[in-house]
Amino acid sequence: MRTVTKISQVRAIISSARHRGQQVGLVPTMGGLHAGHLSLIEAARANDDLVAISIFVNPTQFGPREDYEEYPRELAQDAQLAEQAGVDIIFAPSVEEMYPQGFSTYVEVEELTAGLCGGYRPGHLRGVTTIVAKLLNIIQPHVAYFGEKDYQQLVVIKRIVTDLNMPVEIVGLPTVREPDGLALSSRNQYLNADERQAAPLLYQALTAGAELVRKGAAGPEAAEHIRQMLDGEPLFRVQYVEAVHPETLQSVPYSGPPMVIAAAVYLGDTRLIDNIKMEEGNNNA
Ligand code: PAF
Repeated sequence: MRTVTKISQVRAIISSARHRGQQVGLVPTMGGLHAGHLSLIEAARANDDLVAISIFVNPTQFGPREDYEEYPRELAQDAQLAEQAGVDIIFAPSVEEMYPQGFSTYVEVEELTAGLCGGYRPGHLRGVTTIVAKLLNIIQPHVAYFGEKDYQQLVVIKRIVTDLNMPVEIVGLPTVREPDGLALSSRNQYLNADERQAAPLLYQALTAGAELVRKGAAGPEAAEHIRQMLDGEPLFRVQYVEAVHPETLQSVPYSGPPMVIAAAVYLGDTRLIDNIKMEEGNNNA
C-alpha cells in the first residue's frame, strides 16, 4: 500500500493502472475509519482491481461553528486499518493541495439540497459536492462507494455525476450499525457515556416509525411519532424528522413505500443523523 499526498502522484499511479486495464474503485473518506468505511472498502476490494481511498477533512463542508477543528485526524491508525482491509493507495492531500490560493469554483446542486441536512447546514452539501467532484476528477475511478447513512449526500452525489456527465458508477451501501443499532459514525467518539447510552434511541425511534408506515400510517404521522419518542429523551435535541421520497427528497404526504425516514438530532454538542429506507415491494427497510 502507498500513501501519497500530491495530486500528480495519485494521477500517475491511477493512470498507469488504467493503462494496464485495471478497474479502479474509490472510497472517499474524511478519515476516522470505522467498520462502515471498511464495508465500503470490502465492496471495492471484491469488485475492483485497484482500491484507492481518499482521506481529507474537507474544510468547505463544515459551517463556521461546526467541528472542523475537532474532527478526528488519525492518519497512522487509518493507514493501518486501510492496509489490513486491502487498500492499494491512500490519497491524503493537504488543504493547500486541494484548495490552492485563488480557488473559487464550487459545484452546487439545486432543489435536492433544500431540505433535510441541507436546510440546517447551509453550504455543507456544496462543500461535499465540490470536493467529491474534485476527487472524481483527480482520481478518475470507475466506481466510487458511499454509505447510505448520509442519504442526502448520496442522492446529491448521484445527481452531480449524472448532470456533469462524469464517467463513474456511484454505489451506495447500507449503514453499518453497532449491536445496539447506533449507526457508525466518526462523530460517535464525541459522545460521553450518558449520551452514548441514549444514542440508540435514534434508530429505535426510526424503526418504530417505519413499523407504523408498514401498518399503513402516512409519512407525516410516522415522523410525528418518531419526534415524540425522541423528545421523550431529555438528552436529545431534535433538529428534524422527515419522511421523504427516496429520489426527489420531497416530503411525502402518502402512506407506504417508497419512502426514506430521516432524522438529525443533537446529543449535547454532537450531531447524529440516521435514516431508514423503505423500498416498494420490500418495506422491511
Ligand atoms: O461522507 C464523508 O465522509 C464526506 O462527506 C466525503 C464524501 C468524504 C466528502 O468529504
